[in-house]
Amino acid sequence: MEKFSATIMNASHLPSNGTLAFSSDHGGYDLKEFLKKAASDWGYTTIDCGTHSPDSVDYPDYIEPVVKEVLKGALGVMICGSGIGMSIGANRFKGIRAALCMNNHMAQLARTHNNANVLVLGERLMGKEESLSCLDTFLNNTFEEGRHTRRVEKLDEFGC
Ligand code: RB5
Repeated sequence: MEKFSATIMNASHLPSNGTLAFSSDHGGYDLKEFLKKAASDWGYTTIDCGTHSPDSVDYPDYIEPVVKEVLKGALGVMICGSGIGMSIGANRFKGIRAALCMNNHMAQLARTHNNANVLVLGERLMGKEESLSCLDTFLNNTFEEGRHTRRVEKLDEFGC
């Protein structure tokens, strides 16, 4: 974990309000706990929107609490077994740009090109170190603006 924490000395300069809102279902519970601790060690304020145990739950119930925090200025992290259910659900909310990322390159592009405000991960498809690296990359990249602004604005015209 130290090799990543060195890259974030102080969360206050980041393109969010310094708050990360986490949620998962049972399929993402262990990874949520792991990443939440890492983010806290990096200096972020973390909000845990559940689930709070490895007992089986329904992932759609853990999307809106994070959405509410993101719409207030946090960045979101949602984790389920595959990441697919969480990303389908999160992207139904206007103003949410949730990106399911499997590697660093995707995490980088999600921020620089898509201005994603929610990182979605699949615990059953990724290792902990790979997921930690994705989170680190997601948090340390910013939107490039330029031609991407127009495209993201078009995306934001969609939605419920
Ligand atoms: C739960 O078994 C699983 O379906 C869920 O975590 C997720 O992968 C859904 O997309």
